[in-house]
Amino acid sequence: MTAAAARPLSPLVDEVRAGLSRPQKELSPTLFYDRRGSELFETITHLPEYYLTRTERSLLATRIPPVIARLAPRTVVELGAGSAAKTRLLLDAVRASGEAATYVPIDVSADFLRETASRLGEELPGLTVVPIVADISAGLGLPRVLPRPVLFAFLGSTIGNFDMHAAIALLRRVRDAMCPGDHFLLGVDLQKDVRVIEAAYNDSAGVTAEFNRNVLRVLDRELGATFDPDDFEHRAHYNSMAHRIEMHLVARRALEVHIPDVGRISFRAGESIRTEISCKYDRASVERLFSGAGLVLEAWVANEDPAYALALAVRDTK
Ligand code: AVI
Repeated sequence: MTAAAARPLSPLVDEVRAGLSRPQKELSPTLFYDRRGSELFETITHLPEYYLTRTERSLLATRIPPVIARLAPRTVVELGAGSAAKTRLLLDAVRASGEAATYVPIDVSADFLRETASRLGEELPGLTVVPIVADISAGLGLPRVLPRPVLFAFLGSTIGNFDMHAAIALLRRVRDAMCPGDHFLLGVDLQKDVRVIEAAYNDSAGVTAEFNRNVLRVLDRELGATFDPDDFEHRAHYNSMAHRIEMHLVARRALEVHIPDVGRISFRAGESIRTEISCKYDRASVERLFSGAGLVLEAWVANEDPAYALALAVRDTK
């Protein structure tokens, strides 16, 4: 790669430059989610092979209401505010527990939050919605005072898209925002037959492949890069040592791409950019994550086949 002359660069340029300079070229999965990427992801969640969303939804609908009735939270803080359907299941359970509810969705997208806030305000009269625009990997930006107890929720197994170090840092931020009596609900995809996991990320309709290649379209539009997405093949394989799916974009031939302010990036035929990791857990690895962040597992609500869990934690008081 030829570095551009030193001058102030946008965080995106810095991030892309750093990622594409590594021996294993990398891009952040947050780059997937422009409008088209978000629509493609929404389509993925309905695919027959992608078991994660419907399995979590069924746990939220059938097994979580009694848990919420016991906790009786007055506020739900949702990290990376989720899909309408998931949020509704959570809020319906909270409202059924009898308390006046406050919902605090945290997301990087102000547009998305505005839509969510106005829709929920109409659908659920009496619900107080306090949207917060923040990048959860940098901070939560929560108001100092919230009706307590609070239920923090991070669903969809999005925690799997963070490496261990970043996941613990994120969970520690949650822990630091928790008071005694608050709880944290985490959605995690679990280790299972590799064929089932690999099929979920290599769907037969090719939607995940398009979602993966969309990251190159984002760089072409945002940075004026010269990627031709058709030059790259989607590959998703399970790394059994690290217990994670890795999504890559593999160059079909030797080629060079120019990114203004970054430089020329060359690819050998078969060389890849890693665009996402999606970690798969078991109960012990979730307990380790929690303990690294100062949290303790209080309840484990799991589906057996396909294996998926909602893990409930409290602050470690030690
Ligand atoms: C958002 N995240 C939890 C998804 C996952 O399964 O890791 C993103 C995704 N990537 C490919 N398909 C779905």
